[in-house]
Amino acid sequence: MIQMQNPDSPLRVVEGSGVTFDDIGGLEDVKKQVRRRIINPFTGKRELFRKFKRKAGGGVLMYGPPGCGKTMLAKALATECNAGFYNVRAADVLDKYVGVAEKTIREIFATARARRPVVLFFDEVEALAQRRQMETTAKINTTVSALLTEMDGFSEDNDGILFLGATNVPWSLDSAFRRPGRFDRSIFVPPPDKVARGFILKRLLQDRPVASDLETSQIIDKTSGFSGADLSALVDTAIDIAIEESVSETDLEPLNNTHFKEALREVKSSVGEWLGQARGFADYANADGMYDDLAAFLKKYAR
Ligand SMILES: Nc1ncnc2c1ncn2[C@@H]1O[C@H](COP(=O)(O)OP(=O)(O)OP(=O)(O)O)[C@@H](O)[C@H]1O
Ligand SMILES: [Mg+2]
Repeated sequence: MIQMQNPDSPLRVVEGSGVTFDDIGGLEDVKKQVRRRIINPFTGKRELFRKFKRKAGGGVLMYGPPGCGKTMLAKALATECNAGFYNVRAADVLDKYVGVAEKTIREIFATARARRPVVLFFDEVEALAQRRQMETTAKINTTVSALLTEMDGFSEDNDGILFLGATNVPWSLDSAFRRPGRFDRSIFVPPPDKVARGFILKRLLQDRPVASDLETSQIIDKTSGFSGADLSALVDTAIDIAIEESVSETDLEPLNNTHFKEALREVKSSVGEWLGQARGFADYANADGMYDDLAAFLKKYAR
């Protein structure tokens, strides 16, 4: 689907850049939920939605540690979902004078309503939806209120508009965003498991000079707790070492076990710290069930 990009519009088309669900390793459960909530209402199931008089609206919040595929999932959705897919960026909304932010938000929603069916994607949504507090500026507070009002669709109908948010700090969102019709479902996007790490690693090594005896299973075992982004950094580091050792294009050192052994000393998991912080919220701030699937994930792993 080709969508015109109007440079003056605060509504930006998300560029899927050809990413599909097949490019994403693991996350089967997440893909299934996202399909049900975001693809079905706008595709073959659209008629069924009508028959059941099911309104297509509301929102999904993806949360999880950094570098584990939230933005990538949104890009795959932009490619695969049969609807306009727009990015609402905090920088486009917030970086304005007082009063202008509210106007921009109203414009975004008016444009979205005119282009239904649409998905409005709020990446790093905490920047726009942060908790209103005494110490936050009046500018933030009024912006948050304006956004809440528009998402409600109280005066205007929001049928056919789906909200998709992504964040790695779900606990800093204003709880009003969790009410029905707003981000009323949350999905935990976990770090890749063994199988998913194998998939990601295979893709990262594709078309690169690799030694025939490279033990990828060893690397997979040693990268428990690595995010997709960590794995990518690991491979880059190993490649840098291989390049250093290589003499020329024709006399090169393919990626081998020693390169990875060395790289593993430099690159560490970035997920552990996040999980440590998240555990507190799953344990003590989960009254509304927001962190249920995070809690289930943590339970499966050693505490
Ligand atoms: N499950 C996955 N399958 C394949 N690649 C992945 C996966 N998870 C992460 N990656 C790789 O890691 C990169 C970073 O992922 P992405 O930007 O989607 O993370 P994110 O969850 O949005 O992180 P942040 O919270 O920091 O925004 C991707 O571009 C991709 O190359
Ligand atoms: Mg992201």
